[in-house]
Amino acid sequence: MRSEAAGSASPEPAVSFDTVAGMTIASAPEPEATLDRPDTSVASPRPDVTDETIESPGEWWRSAVIYQIYPRSFADSDGDGIGDLPGITDRLDHLAALGVDAIWLSPFYTSPQKDAGYDVADYCDVDPLFGTLADFEIMQNKAHELGLRVIVDIVPNHSSDQHAWFIEALASPEGSPERGRYIFRDGKGENGEIAPNNWESVFGGPAWTRITNEDGTPGQWYLHLFDTSQPDLDWTNPWVREQFRDILRFWLDRGVDGFRVDVAHGMIKADGLPDYTPPADGGSMGGGSFEQSISDNEDEPESPPYWAQDGVHEIYRDWHEVLAAYDGERVLCAEAWVEPLSKLARWVRPDEMHQAFNFSYLETPWTATALRRIIDESIAAFDSVGAPSTWVLSNHDVVRHASRLALTAENPQGAGIGPNSAGLPDAAVGLQRARAATALMLGLPGSAYVYQGEELGLPEAIHLPDESRQDPTWFRTNGERYGRDGCRVPIPWEADKPGYGFSPTGESWLPQPDDWAPLSRDAQVGVEGSTLELYREALFLRRENLLGFGTLEWITGLGEAVVAFRNGDVTVVANTGSVPIELPTGTIALASGDVSGSILPGDTTVWLTTDAH
Ligand code: NOJ
Repeated sequence: MRSEAAGSASPEPAVSFDTVAGMTIASAPEPEATLDRPDTSVASPRPDVTDETIESPGEWWRSAVIYQIYPRSFADSDGDGIGDLPGITDRLDHLAALGVDAIWLSPFYTSPQKDAGYDVADYCDVDPLFGTLADFEIMQNKAHELGLRVIVDIVPNHSSDQHAWFIEALASPEGSPERGRYIFRDGKGENGEIAPNNWESVFGGPAWTRITNEDGTPGQWYLHLFDTSQPDLDWTNPWVREQFRDILRFWLDRGVDGFRVDVAHGMIKADGLPDYTPPADGGSMGGGSFEQSISDNEDEPESPPYWAQDGVHEIYRDWHEVLAAYDGERVLCAEAWVEPLSKLARWVRPDEMHQAFNFSYLETPWTATALRRIIDESIAAFDSVGAPSTWVLSNHDVVRHASRLALTAENPQGAGIGPNSAGLPDAAVGLQRARAATALMLGLPGSAYVYQGEELGLPEAIHLPDESRQDPTWFRTNGERYGRDGCRVPIPWEADKPGYGFSPTGESWLPQPDDWAPLSRDAQVGVEGSTLELYREALFLRRENLLGFGTLEWITGLGEAVVAFRNGDVTVVANTGSVPIELPTGTIALASGDVSGSILPGDTTVWLTTDAH
């Protein structure tokens, strides 16, 4: 096994060529071996690819690869078993070495952690679990020094019930301005004992909770599309809008490069809050299925009264202006589970957000027909408003793609999988497909998101003990839905350390599977064929060939199960089937699996170049 070079400085290495199984492979410069490997060591961070040597032909976010850090599971510096900001700072070198352009941090704000920080009690402070504002500044400065942009999460649809705004609302009378910050309504029935409507919480159970007045009598109901501890704010109230402008400015003034906007499709509800019964195949976060992403219908299907209401766009136009007053290409990225794609494109019109997660892509099955179709639709939809398409395969809400792509049952979306789920994946098939899917994704023009741990090939942790589960989904459905803990398990850094090096004490807020040592970062760095090296190589070639800024030209005739396209000088060929195919001519620059001669096996993707650089 090759080991990492200590430190990051290394002379300008030239790209070299090896022959693997009869094909030519362009490989990134090898890090030098060292006997003594300090914890902070990193693999050589591609000194030949810097902002000075490659001129960006457009705004950074149009082509960026953005790495999602889920702070509680990334790296724990103080040993309490929960990741924190200093832990992130200590490990940032690794992300620079991986070759991503930016990081996005899930919430680290003051929070009772009922929904892992998506229940915010103070939008302008750091929860002591994660550190302090000073720790944030140190982390951000280091990221910027390393050339990594920093995007933070903003959670505007709801606050925590422990936010001063909600505490004051509860203590204030019906009809008061304080109550007007949230969506309080009288109940129906003789004594107001029936919820104002039939809406269901995303996490299961009713979306309304009745409060008890100070004198002990039952009071009004408040809306919470998620957990009871996450009351929805009333975005028709100008006061709420003003607070969030200030929150945006608070973080912009501190130098953040942008925001990932949580539930960006939910802030405005239909007038009158009409009853609604979702279809059986509706996704948990509001997204539907792959079929619903495609806009064959002339008439756009109507959205539920709590998702994708037209009124949200006015808010984003307002936010766009807030960001535009700052220098440095600050961005907004919508977490909007909206289908079809033609509708989602409205979130990224030129005066609204800059990007929206392409969850339709994430939900697409591993078949060539579906993939070609979704790629076409995505590029057309986002192009129509002058925005880049984004691509994403995993995040902290869905089954990791190294497991999802091998499920033999329906994709359960936010409901997760566990020991008793149907159609559990074969791990080897899942990893092979995940690698092929990533190599396909990173060859596409536009911007891509990578979720922490996917570069290690981490699967979903399926066999978590019931008593360790923490997702509100698990509790609100009495264990009927496993929820999202399986994709949130702390990541393994060093195979031989307690907790795989996640925490100095070996503590981990969710148990780490016993068989993750070979997936640890240090077991993969410098190892030919490892998933980590595949990601590094793909990110290096993507940047070197400006693939993010490229255009896609389909190649046909290679077989029904094949997705093939040209993006500039690179030809991407993905075989989603099980029957090997004959490759077109070219030099293999990247291979997601073993390739022998000119035969591309199933579940494998290659990148071909016509010239050897
Ligand atoms: C989407 C976030 O990604 C998810 O983790 C969270 O539970 C909900 N929004 C509610 O904030």
